[in-house]
Amino acid sequence: MTSFVVNGGRRLSGSLVCQGSKNSALPILAATYLVNGKSVIHNCPRLSDVESTIKILENLGCKVERRSNDLVVDSTSANGYEIPESLMREMRSSVIFLGAILAKTGKAVISAPGGCEIGLRPIDLHLFAMRKLGVTISEEHGRLECFVNKKLKGAKITLTFPSVGATENAILAAAVAEGTTTIINAAREPEIIDLCDFLNKCGARISGGGESIIVIDGVKKLSATEHTVICDRIAAATYLFAGAVTGGDVSVKNTVPAHLGGILPVLEEAGCTVSVRCDEIRLKAPLKLNRIDKLITQPYPGFPTDAQAPIMVLTTLARGTSVIVENIFETRFKHVPELLRMGAKIRTEGRVAVVDGVERLYGASVVSPDLRGGSALVLAALAANGITSVSEIKHIDRGYENFEKNLCMLNADIVRMTKNYANTKEK
Ligand code: EPZ
Repeated sequence: MTSFVVNGGRRLSGSLVCQGSKNSALPILAATYLVNGKSVIHNCPRLSDVESTIKILENLGCKVERRSNDLVVDSTSANGYEIPESLMREMRSSVIFLGAILAKTGKAVISAPGGCEIGLRPIDLHLFAMRKLGVTISEEHGRLECFVNKKLKGAKITLTFPSVGATENAILAAAVAEGTTTIINAAREPEIIDLCDFLNKCGARISGGGESIIVIDGVKKLSATEHTVICDRIAAATYLFAGAVTGGDVSVKNTVPAHLGGILPVLEEAGCTVSVRCDEIRLKAPLKLNRIDKLITQPYPGFPTDAQAPIMVLTTLARGTSVIVENIFETRFKHVPELLRMGAKIRTEGRVAVVDGVERLYGASVVSPDLRGGSALVLAALAANGITSVSEIKHIDRGYENFEKNLCMLNADIVRMTKNYANTKEK
């Protein structure tokens, strides 16, 4: 069992360079399957989710080579159309390959990804979009068999919810469909823009990426190119929050500050001084954080659900009572019982959490429930008095590259342990 052991109470300071975006790298890697030739993807974070995606690409017949944070994907002779259940279960977002596989081979066999720690996560909108483009889908015992009648055909796709994944799948399938596709109520996340930028560089004709209406004029074929993945706005926010909960002074470089537009005002409401210069965001924490009146997670450009757990830690140490409403996923408060073990005061009712700020948190032994919940527990441990052991960090490794090394660069006292605390220590 691997865990992080944190000796809390240190004020974080310094700067670090932000990693590439997990949620941008994954759909772009799926797109490399669709384009012909060798794609070179720069700034691709070293994460277990990226490793799972590489396994899927190789399973589909691609040759993948890693050079530090660059990935070279050669899909020239790849024509696989099935993703084994084991790989679908390893990473829920494997479903984003559906559009690329159907666009390339005209058929696809995948298993329904099912729910995960944070919610039921149905894929009805993904399947709705595929059917609109002319795909026939039969589902039996969780196995989805999909095939295209002759050719994908452009269509009007109105999403009842601006789902990120369903928008990405529709874009991937429509990019080489016959005719024009219009996606209405599309997701507007920066990761959608990055995917559109990559595909347009490969010869696609997509307009409106980042807006709620996206128009795609299908083209005959796409040719591989080079692309640099954008910075991970959630990782950037997490490091800024680490500065905030430790009374620190932290800078994150290589960011796109505009992508944190829904987050920075909340940090200012909490009393932090935030300054932006080019690609750098600097945060100086106040002596005591202010409460956050009411925070509601929303699709972009609202406050992202992926930053909900990490920012909850700020409210546990704030003056007064904060209210957090998790609007996107049904069960994304699994970090709360663990924070209670550290002395936090939080009441939850359905998707609402009421947090009464306390003077301080205390070290404890806690378990990461999921990716963002795990990162929140590490932030709480950095602020806490004493030693905290955070286990099940495989969740954290799915989304944060070199998490403990980066935090150490900011003066944190955190180590990755492979065995129980009493025995050995790994540097
Ligand atoms: C993406 O997931 C991200 N993952 C998630 O980040 C992020 O939380 C989410 O978008 C929202 O911002 C990746 O990009 C790989 P959605 P996705 O489809 O595409 C419902 C992280 O921590 N829905 O926008 O799965 C769904 O149940 C991860 O990095 C349907 O009902 O999110 C949810 O309540 C976690 N039917 C809501 O929409 C569908 O067919 C948002 O889901 C699809 C979604």
